[in-house]
Amino acid sequence: MKRTKVKALLQSAERGHEVLLKGWVRTKRGNKYVTFIAVNDGSTIHNIQVVADMNLFTDESLRDVTTGASVSVLGTLVESQGKGQSVEIQARTIEVIGLADPETYPLQKKGHSLEFLREIAHLRPRTNTFGAVLRIRHAMAFAIHRYFNHNGFFYVHTPVITASDAEGAGEMFRVTTLDPINPPRTEDGQVDFSQDFFGKSTNLTVSGQLEGEVCAMALSEIYTFGPTFRAENSNTSRHLAEFWMVEPEMAFYDLEDNMDLAEDFLRYLVRYALDHCLDDLQFLNDMYDKELLARLNFVVEHDFQRLTYSEAVAILRDAKQKFEYKVDWGTDLQSEHERYLVEKHFKKPVILTNYPKEVKSFYMKLNDDNKTVRAMDVLFPGIGEIIGGSQREENYDKLVARMQELNIPEKEMWWYLDTRRFGSVPHSGFGLGFERLLLFVTGMGNIRDVIPFPRFPKSAEF
Ligand code: 4AD
Ligand code: MG
Repeated sequence: MKRTKVKALLQSAERGHEVLLKGWVRTKRGNKYVTFIAVNDGSTIHNIQVVADMNLFTDESLRDVTTGASVSVLGTLVESQGKGQSVEIQARTIEVIGLADPETYPLQKKGHSLEFLREIAHLRPRTNTFGAVLRIRHAMAFAIHRYFNHNGFFYVHTPVITASDAEGAGEMFRVTTLDPINPPRTEDGQVDFSQDFFGKSTNLTVSGQLEGEVCAMALSEIYTFGPTFRAENSNTSRHLAEFWMVEPEMAFYDLEDNMDLAEDFLRYLVRYALDHCLDDLQFLNDMYDKELLARLNFVVEHDFQRLTYSEAVAILRDAKQKFEYKVDWGTDLQSEHERYLVEKHFKKPVILTNYPKEVKSFYMKLNDDNKTVRAMDVLFPGIGEIIGGSQREENYDKLVARMQELNIPEKEMWWYLDTRRFGSVPHSGFGLGFERLLLFVTGMGNIRDVIPFPRFPKSAEF
């Protein structure tokens, strides 16, 4: 007989037919006449109740049916007598597939703190919270592909191992086949990279943008969606060393078009979550954050506030609030400033544009003032920066001049510069931090709780 998932059973209109259920026991309770077993198989936040009539079962036969054990249940799907569920399974046979010794199984009925669950990342997918987060994560990944596919964008796969530092921030994880403790050296004592697999120093990608630009110069509208790596030693609730980034890149888009796309895209994703993940969102709303659904609905219904960096600096300098970091024109904004603008001043998502060139990357298009670049950061409540993007410098000479100012080796970037030598066009793009999006959509407070296996300084259990 074929197994039916809990989600389908709960939605089933049929009654009185035999079904096969497989899943994990969440709870068991009852009396001498009847035992109730709540079973979950991950298809939904909801459990299905299995009812064991103690005329048919003995205490002994249900002894191993404990929290965490896996079971296979054959029974009849019937209307439920109890509150809170439409159907239940009247069990005929209950087989324990895998034991979970109650003395040592770490997850118990009472619920656990998120800190504790981080210590047992391999078991936390079995909790309601992480089940919900992982299903929402899946739905958002799917919605991202759906959005772009529908709008004529092509998904391109950019390399994970690369020789370039796309952001020029130097926060890279090195990749080498040389012995890190005792590398071969040249006569003058330098590490001899000619003996390395690639024959040169390489690293894990910090962004797929530069390769994305290459493909946009042929396919017009593309996106990348993959893991990116940053060795920034930020032990914050907003940073990971390995995170997923979505990077669309569009030929013939200016900054205005770029902002329109970012805004439409984010609203689409939040709406998709509301339309497809409501059970899980409702659970997270009730469990952790009573404002979650209201905040998601707000974002879907309201335009984002657009203003320039200079206008934002003026607002921040006039603010009554005391900031830890002082705001001066020319300095980068800290997350306290971003959150002030979003949460206190405008009370809606904000897109900041035209940052000083010094605080942004080399590839951004210079404005006529020669001081600012066509950058855009999208700032969200509770998060700060969720998207970073820009119109790109399409002019070969200006790009080279900027690279020289920043000591970026032209020789190694010849392939990137070729996009500006042959058929260059105005183009734009942005990067959405996938886990930052998930922080917003799930309302979780720590980025380590929206990725199954978080990587951060001093962590890598497996
Ligand atoms: O602003 P960033 O550094 O921009 C880029 O990498 C560009 N190449 C994107 C582009 O234009 N194609 O990063 C983009 C986004 C940030 O806004 C943030 O959401 C996320 O990536 N991000 C991180 N998320 C988690 N952990 C980190 N350490 C992150 N660093 C950036
Ligand atoms: Mg940024």
